[in-house]
Amino acid sequence: MLSPSTVRCYRWEFELHAVCRLISTSMFVFVLLFLLQPAEGANTTFSCSDDQGNAVDWFYLYKLPRPHEQPPEEGLKYLLLEEQSEGWTEGRGLVGDGTGALGRSLGPLYEDGELGYILYNDQPPEQRRVNDANRSGGHTKGVVLFDSRQGFWLVHSTPHFPPPKTEGKFSYPSSGINNGQNFICVTYPLERFDTIGEQLKINQPHIYDCDIPKSLTSSVPSMAELCKHRHGQKNSSITDGSFSSPNRSVSLLSLAGTEFISFAKGASFENDLYHAWVAPTLQTDLLVQFWRRSTGVLPSDCSSKWKVLDMHLLSPGGQITFKATEDHSKWAASAGGGGLRGGAWVCVGDINRNEAEEKRGGGTVCRQDVAVWKAYRAAALQCESCSGEVEECESARLYH
Ligand SMILES: *[C@@H]1O[C@H](CO)[C@@H](O)[C@H](O)[C@H]1NC(C)=O
Ligand SMILES: *[C@@H]1O[C@H](CO)[C@@H](O)[C@H](O)[C@H]1NC(C)=O
Ligand SMILES: *[C@@H]1O[C@H](CO)[C@@H](O)[C@H](O)[C@H]1NC(C)=O
Ligand SMILES: *[C@@H]1O[C@H](CO)[C@@H](O)[C@H](O)[C@H]1NC(C)=O
Repeated sequence: MLSPSTVRCYRWEFELHAVCRLISTSMFVFVLLFLLQPAEGANTTFSCSDDQGNAVDWFYLYKLPRPHEQPPEEGLKYLLLEEQSEGWTEGRGLVGDGTGALGRSLGPLYEDGELGYILYNDQPPEQRRVNDANRSGGHTKGVVLFDSRQGFWLVHSTPHFPPPKTEGKFSYPSSGINNGQNFICVTYPLERFDTIGEQLKINQPHIYDCDIPKSLTSSVPSMAELCKHRHGQKNSSITDGSFSSPNRSVSLLSLAGTEFISFAKGASFENDLYHAWVAPTLQTDLLVQFWRRSTGVLPSDCSSKWKVLDMHLLSPGGQITFKATEDHSKWAASAGGGGLRGGAWVCVGDINRNEAEEKRGGGTVCRQDVAVWKAYRAAALQCESCSGEVEECESARLYH
């Protein structure tokens, strides 16, 4: 007769045997997968991603301001504008989620792999605050991430973002909750990144984390040089080398062939990006959203053919309405959809309209697309006219 303990033991041995078989079977599967991996791994792509994890050619993301006296989560909501969306759509979760568009796009940065990256921000994350990050460098924020085939360039307005690679995972800073923020992510083939690096050199970015593997250096010498001379030391060729040009615009074709125009200025440009350069180049009146709570803000300007008006009240997607003073975003939209070159331009960048930033590097990425323009243009409810009154943007433009 079997004692209860023998039965237990017998059962245990039987289960152990089953477990053992299971383990060896899965070991075999693992080994098989491992052997197949080189082919699969080579296809890992660095790309802007949507909320569902699909690789996308581009997206625009509007992190909404936290409404007064609302919990912090309300300051982490966002709107997304993508190819199929025909207007702003609500983000699936919160902007700091690893499973959202931003988290999914930046996720690979925190994993192992052969990738080149540059993180730059005039207000770097706390843990990377260094003495030489001072107000003489560019007022510029972004992420460049690519492998031997492709990658993306993310331009944004958020201070202390994103965390350096050593943090090990994506997160969004609490300092970015209260105000609105804007992001433009575009996927580019590898060939485009050397040009992007040249634009960044003009911007004089504060690079707080970067790595360009040797295998990628010859494809993107400008990025390698930027990374080598990080922190923008006065001596480096970034400030006194071949790129002494105060400004340059280039056309950048995305991976899927969409045209974006990058406007980059350095400190020696000494003028307002929007009024002195972008509006006359695109031949359009511009409505500009930028951070208003700084000193020396430039008023709306009707002094030349193409007017530039400061926004006052916004409502992207029409759900919540807020003042420009609650929005740290820096974007501009054609006032109208007509005009010589057809209007309908939208630019998203990292520089404000104020006296101090006339003398600092920074830029904007523009694109002419009716659906994107409608989404941004409709967000501009009230503007300041050139005589200083707050009015509906179209009348502010026409009657002053
Ligand atoms: C992976 O990359 C190879 C070579 O570039 C290509 O032929 C293949 O179709 C890709 N596979 C997938 C699933 O994208
Ligand atoms: C900022 O940095 C520049 C170049 O490194 C230096 O010449 C300048 O003195 C610094 N300014 C301040 C206020 O630290
Ligand atoms: C900085 O510039 C000076 C003068 O051009 C040069 O002598 C010196 O070697 C440079 N220092 C570095 C670290 O490049
Ligand atoms: C620099 O900006 C000026 C306007 O201030 C413009 O006329 C000029 O074409 C720009 N230069 C380049 C190289 O884009």
